Amino acid sequence: MKLNLCILASGRGSNLRAIIKANKAGKIKSQVKLVISNNSASGALNIAKTNKIPNYHLSLRLFNSEKQFVRKFSELLAKHKIDLIVLAGYMKMINPYIIKKYRNRIINIHPALLPKFGGKGMYGIHVHEAVINSGDTVTGVSVHYVDEKYDHGEIILQKEVKVKADDTPETLRKRVLRTEHKVYPEAIRLLETNKIKLGKDKSRK
Ligand code: GRF
Repeated sequence: MKLNLCILASGRGSNLRAIIKANKAGKIKSQVKLVISNNSASGALNIAKTNKIPNYHLSLRLFNSEKQFVRKFSELLAKHKIDLIVLAGYMKMINPYIIKKYRNRIINIHPALLPKFGGKGMYGIHVHEAVINSGDTVTGVSVHYVDEKYDHGEIILQKEVKVKADDTPETLRKRVLRTEHKVYPEAIRLLETNKIKLGKDKSRK
């Protein structure tokens, strides 16, 4: 099944780029149909523009109420017939209404082996600092469903990455990120081929 993807990103957008590339290379059938960022300077919006993918800067700050923000968000998802919402470095909580509507149709990637090194404050370089400080010799990547709690939903796919004795948080971050670029398309492939069950589509009438 070919899924219409919406990518939510706040920063660089390298996972977005990897997903677009995987589709162009025929590794996944699903296509990025929509990119939304809360950050107008996000690299992800530029990548979307370059690839002629509809893209929006959507932030709660730009609306009078959360209700209006969520309405706009929902309208965009419906307009682009989104089947799967893919969080790629999105730094905001997803509104509970959207989580409910797209239950088991929202996924996230985390740069560690959840449930280790997840939860509040565990993002970006902090994750890799914590891994190195823990003395663990293996870390990795987790793709999981998004539910109402941070880094909590059911795990779809994990891949290990070795921690080297001379790793710094930055060298580890780079190596884990390269693995993310392989693992995220693989997880999408599992969902589009029904090897892992997608939630029931409650979004389309
Ligand atoms: C990745 O490390 C991802 O695991 C985390 O945020 C980062 C996003 O990187 N959730 P990019 O914007 O895709 O380059």
